Amino acid sequence: MTWDRAPSGANAEWLARSRVAVFHPCTQMKVHETLPIVPIARGEGAWLVDFEGRRYLDALSSWWVNLFGHANPRINAAIADQLATLEHVMLAGFTHRPVVELSERLAALAPAGLGHAFYGSDGASATEIALKMSFHAWANRGKPGKRGFVSVAGGYHGETLGALAVTDVPLFRRTYEPLLARHATVPSPDARLAREGETPRDAAERAAQALEAHLAAHHETIAALIVEPIVQGATGMAMYDPHYLVRARELCTRFAVHLIADEIMTGFGRTGSMFACEQAGVAPDFLLLSKGLTGGYLPLACVLSTDEVYASFYDDDVARGFLHSHSYTGSALACRAALAVLDIFRDDGVIAANRARAARFTERAGALSTHSRVRDFRHRGMIWAFEAESTRADFALWFFAEALAREVLLRPIGRTVYFMPPYVTTDEDWGLLVDATLAILDRA
Ligand SMILES: Cc1ncc(COP(=O)(O)O)c(C=O)c1O
Repeated sequence: MTWDRAPSGANAEWLARSRVAVFHPCTQMKVHETLPIVPIARGEGAWLVDFEGRRYLDALSSWWVNLFGHANPRINAAIADQLATLEHVMLAGFTHRPVVELSERLAALAPAGLGHAFYGSDGASATEIALKMSFHAWANRGKPGKRGFVSVAGGYHGETLGALAVTDVPLFRRTYEPLLARHATVPSPDARLAREGETPRDAAERAAQALEAHLAAHHETIAALIVEPIVQGATGMAMYDPHYLVRARELCTRFAVHLIADEIMTGFGRTGSMFACEQAGVAPDFLLLSKGLTGGYLPLACVLSTDEVYASFYDDDVARGFLHSHSYTGSALACRAALAVLDIFRDDGVIAANRARAARFTERAGALSTHSRVRDFRHRGMIWAFEAESTRADFALWFFAEALAREVLLRPIGRTVYFMPPYVTTDEDWGLLVDATLAILDRA
């Protein structure tokens, strides 16, 4: 696998130094003997620019975090203002204005009843917090035997050992299997699994019945069910009918099992509503947020929980408290970035504007949805995905390189090609993205 344009000048220098000094994430470093790392000098809206002035459309929102573009002047201004005031203070025993305001505003935006905000850094830390908090809440209520977790086939909740134990993506999991706690996996409601004559809702109901059978048999030992609402991202953008969430909520309540909604990817408008849970009209016991929370600026995660969960820790006994922490818990700078993001949502009517934008984008992608090499073209909110038919063993890397050569940043998951653009992507940008993808598919 080679890239048609060999890096030169400052690009070549930065990539050579990076290969030596930086251990890049989610990467077999040897691949970069032939496939160049892309050095980025600056960002501007939906575009990234390298050291030689070559541009790349960030069609993945930089691993799904960027909502309002790179170097967004409004988020920049908020962070700069916060920088001159307070960058960070430990959150045990102290508090500050951005963390209080953010907690209040997230609770007001989230499904009802999620009034207690606990902070972490990346998405995986939110998963860890929710798993520990769920187990500990049950233990504090006299049910220490509830220590198992149930996750959905193909689910992804992060790479740390606790999060990986409830993740079902073999590529990330297989090597570390001996280190992982054993938890149960139930069938996915993925609409593509609908059998002959079944609707997506039927497929969701069938998966819900499997969940019901599992919880009926094992609820005494289960603390929580963890789900990615509406779209299972990392497994390959599996989309499903909200009916599954309605049933999951009902079953979790019936069997006294916490419902953890991992909206780390789906939150903040990605699936078309502020939170994906809204589409099912359900409120989980834990809502996990990260990624878009700071608009892709700073690492921050938030676990919102219910009064009931919170009350189970409130006690004279210190050990019955939730003694979990990270040094940067509730970073003032990150919280201020998140407040700027919420201001943009409010002031610009982003959810409604995205609805119109997504309708235009889907129409413009018509030629893709009918392309002979495209299977299961699907769309939800600001996510589009399809399976590409190709016999290339190196399809994902090949596609990535082909896309870069056309000024587009795309990284298929296996043969799943997907678009998850920032909400500032213009119709012109989108047209370029669709045309580049069509051109690549013609060569696949
Ligand atoms: C649904 C979901 N949960 C958790 C995570 C983990 O987040 P992070 O990579 O920030 O640890 C991700 C990341 O892609 C995700 O998509």
